[in-house]
Amino acid sequence: MFPTERFRNKHILVGITGGIAAYKAAELVRYLIQQEAEVRVVMTSAAGKFISPLTMETLSQHAVATDLFPENAFSGTHHINLADWADAAIIAPASYDVIGKLYSGIADDLLTTIWAAIHCPTVIAPAMNVNMWNNPILQRNIDELSKLGYLFCPPEEGFLAEGYSGKGRLAPLEHLIQYLYRAVHPAPSSLSIKKVLVTAGKTEEPIDPVRVISNRSSGKMGLAMAWEAFARGASVKLIHGPMVLPHPVDMEIVEIATAEEMYQVVKKLYPECDIFASSAAVADYTPAGPVSRKIKKKEADLTLELSPTVDILKDCGENRTSGQQLIGFAVETDSPEETGAQKLNEKNLDMIVVNNPREKGAGFDIDTNIVTLMHRNGAREKISVLPKLDVAFRIFDFLLKNQS
Ligand code: CTP
Repeated sequence: MFPTERFRNKHILVGITGGIAAYKAAELVRYLIQQEAEVRVVMTSAAGKFISPLTMETLSQHAVATDLFPENAFSGTHHINLADWADAAIIAPASYDVIGKLYSGIADDLLTTIWAAIHCPTVIAPAMNVNMWNNPILQRNIDELSKLGYLFCPPEEGFLAEGYSGKGRLAPLEHLIQYLYRAVHPAPSSLSIKKVLVTAGKTEEPIDPVRVISNRSSGKMGLAMAWEAFARGASVKLIHGPMVLPHPVDMEIVEIATAEEMYQVVKKLYPECDIFASSAAVADYTPAGPVSRKIKKKEADLTLELSPTVDILKDCGENRTSGQQLIGFAVETDSPEETGAQKLNEKNLDMIVVNNPREKGAGFDIDTNIVTLMHRNGAREKISVLPKLDVAFRIFDFLLKNQS
């Protein structure tokens, strides 16, 4: 889910401040290099006590900036050069101290001096002790900096280095990336006043307490839709079936198992949404009478009776209010575009995303997809193999371009 072309050749400045979570910045830099970003790392002297600049230099493939006045180097406009160079910036981990300095306008070392001059989107990922996190001074600083446009990627609750639990752990890598993806987004506010509802993954229909009827959907395409809507500034609600992928941050998430459970949650949340992206692979049938005891093996054949489930998307299409937009998905092995056009019409959708899992680079549980986008106004766009996140980018662009 994490690969994307969005970071390719982008200039990303990574600031690291002093804190035990500093070692986690290594994974972030590694990810960005894998996505072919240009990365420069700036570390405070306290950060250097937790992780070696050599580690970051090796991973970022460039010298690490640590001193405002480095010996044996021209340093005149060092800080301005890096600030001007960056397309997006992140401080991870960001200490109590650095957040206070950013709020107060203090620039007394290389990192804070660079950030005083920075004019690109910036993500701040705090990490500290729970009592420092709860300090109203820090919370005020975060509130004020947020108003100025800084993107705060919230810390997690969990086991702290101090030996007890609380909020303050640096956000996991995928949350940092979700926020950085937003920071490099070319249309960061294209859905800023929109409410987007996304369904993702598979459903599981119980046969008995140990067996289910399900499908091979991993939820990657649906999660990509949720990330993309978040990056465009939408308020996002995500309903998903069983999946192993990590949860996104800063969106309402409802976990369900069966098609009926998904239907009940969609029915509740759908009336309030502006855009509904139905990416989930919903079971079309469910066992007519799931039994409460495990079915035992017998010599004779076993026949399962199945009943149809509600077509959730069709129901939404029939009950749409003006202004609501519906995106359907269809996995088709035979005449994909013809069947896609039929579903677009029958389910009363604005657009449908059709793919054929038989094509190499499309389908379930892989990071890429190959799709055809079809709009009710007749517009069509074929998209050759791309990471699912970039496919999601194209889907929202297509929807927004074709809306009347
Ligand atoms: N869908 C739904 N509820 C269902 C089945 C499907 O909301 N019970 C939605 C899917 O989320 C998807 C779209 O309908 O956006 C198309 O799903 P798909 O399984 O391709 O089509 P079906 O209408 O179920 O037809 P078939 O399985 O016969 O191709």
